[in-house]
Amino acid sequence: MTMHPLDRLTADEIVANRRILDEHGLIGPATRFPLVMLAEPPKAAVLAGASCDRRVSTVLLDRTTGEVRDVLASLTDGKVLSERVVDVRTEGQPPIMGEEFALVEKILWADEAWCTAMARRGLTEPSRIRISALSAGAFGIAGEEGRRLVRCLSFLQLSDDDNVWAHPIDGIVAYVDLITGEVVELIDDGIFPIPGEKADFHLPVATRDSQKPLHITQPQGPSFTVDGNVVTWEKWQFRIGFDQVEGLTLHQISLGDRSIVYRASVAEMVVPYGDPSPVRFWQNYFDAGEYSLGKDTNALTLGCDCLGEIHYFDAAIADDDGNPRLLPNAICMHEEDYGLLWKHTDMYNGSSSVRRQRRLVVSFFITVGNYDYGFYWYLYLDGTIQLECKATGVVFASAHPGGDYPWASEIAPGVGAPFHQHLFSARLDMALDGPGNAVDEVDAVRVPVSETNPYGNAFTRRSTRLRTESEGARLADGSVGRTWHISNPSVLNAVGRPVGYTLHPEGQPTLLADESSSIAKRAAFTTRHLWVTAQDDTERYPAGRFVNQNPGLTGIDTWVRADRDIDGTDIVVWHTFGLTHFPRTEDWPIMPVDYTGFVLKPSGFFDRNPALDVPAPAAHPATGGCCSAQPDVPAPAAHPAAGGCCSAR
Ligand code: NI
Repeated sequence: MTMHPLDRLTADEIVANRRILDEHGLIGPATRFPLVMLAEPPKAAVLAGASCDRRVSTVLLDRTTGEVRDVLASLTDGKVLSERVVDVRTEGQPPIMGEEFALVEKILWADEAWCTAMARRGLTEPSRIRISALSAGAFGIAGEEGRRLVRCLSFLQLSDDDNVWAHPIDGIVAYVDLITGEVVELIDDGIFPIPGEKADFHLPVATRDSQKPLHITQPQGPSFTVDGNVVTWEKWQFRIGFDQVEGLTLHQISLGDRSIVYRASVAEMVVPYGDPSPVRFWQNYFDAGEYSLGKDTNALTLGCDCLGEIHYFDAAIADDDGNPRLLPNAICMHEEDYGLLWKHTDMYNGSSSVRRQRRLVVSFFITVGNYDYGFYWYLYLDGTIQLECKATGVVFASAHPGGDYPWASEIAPGVGAPFHQHLFSARLDMALDGPGNAVDEVDAVRVPVSETNPYGNAFTRRSTRLRTESEGARLADGSVGRTWHISNPSVLNAVGRPVGYTLHPEGQPTLLADESSSIAKRAAFTTRHLWVTAQDDTERYPAGRFVNQNPGLTGIDTWVRADRDIDGTDIVVWHTFGLTHFPRTEDWPIMPVDYTGFVLKPSGFFDRNPALDVPAPAAHPATGGCCSAQPDVPAPAAHPAAGGCCSAR
């Protein structure tokens, strides 16, 4: 079987990779596989259509020594190409694995000091205390250097089917070494009342009976076709990818045979918390780099989030032992009606025209501890690309001390929800009509009254080219409607301007933690809404390759010190966006979906509206649509030249 260089790893390939590493003597009884990923060939080789061998990048962790190895193997040649030991002190640790959640419970339930601290809180049955293994960050705390650590907060589980997040055991945190199995530090800040009110939204409740069925049907099937990993829908075409860190990736997105984006993904996301309490000042979770979006992906057989004619893609990922694990229905794809695309009723020629918008939705959903996130890419008929991230699940709870505690909302009696942000980084490897792209910052500008503006009505826009990486680190500014226009200076449109797409940011707050904080260094990508870097296949994750416990030495802020040229060359656009979450009572006990994202809109890319050839909507059988020819419902007359909405199809 011929594979495309960007085809997703198959289960057979994951098996072959493990065998190659085994034959090379790299696997012992204590070896774990935190990361097993397709090593994508260089962009230049893919675009040149060169034949590329299938390579796999594997990170190995020795559970007994803590040694981390970074291995590159060729499946084509059946051999290990390179391997090295990772310096975990400067480069960081591999992500936290599923088995380590179970491990910390085993360690703490058996720890005498921890059990004594729990007994002081009246808790004498350790197995009722559930432990959350939370990423440790890097705070320069003496004795932590080089250790593989998690920080553990505890929750009381009242019964087997109880929602534990409702019963935080506050005031105590344990720092656990995952290699030695030791409790390195136990911080007891005092005893807080444990909220006892149940929050079991998952158990049957009396439901309203007002809803009638709502079905979306496509009797002739969807309008897309799928050939392996290649999707074609309307004039769009792209490849589906799946990365263990990023989850869903989209490759070689084109419209009408014109290239738009070479590779698009959410390359990192971080949830920094704002409570300086001695037991939670360290709470910052990088859900991609520390927990792996791909590994945490939901198998949507368990309940789907999409309505209509769905196409699912399964995903094969490696488990912690390097064996394939199939995620059935990991990626969900369908098309949606999206209201109006365009419409006009003309008073002079008597025409009435309307077209409906559709979008293709490609999505996946993850669960990381208490939170659940959906990542939805939308492609529209008019050339728009949108990413929408959905945050839901259960907010992380604390014991609320009452009064005007400035760092958390009281969301239920005695239950606090510390303030936090959800900050995402989209990596957009741009290729508008080819790789030579540039970015301009575009602001709306007020113009004072002058001789040429005597009535003061004038306003204009100012476009500023971002020429180097240091100039490419930018903040959004809603007061001037700031956007970033990405263009190809060497391809001109019908009015002689470079073809382009515009990135429309939401412009919500960037990182709110102090700029001297550990998180500002480790998640430097969150300190700007925009970064533009020279394309480099190795610069894939904006907080670095090993994010867990990385002190902040290998992220995007360190790459841009090279200050490479970004003007009319092969560039990657990185966009930070997200939610600043002051939890509401309505977010309890489970949070209605909150949304964040961005829009990438064609802006001078097409010479006119690219959706003029969308057919008019079909008539609704019952009421008669605008195009029905029922004698008692006169349809607007079609203009013979332009064809109204009722022109014959
Ligand atoms: Ni939140």
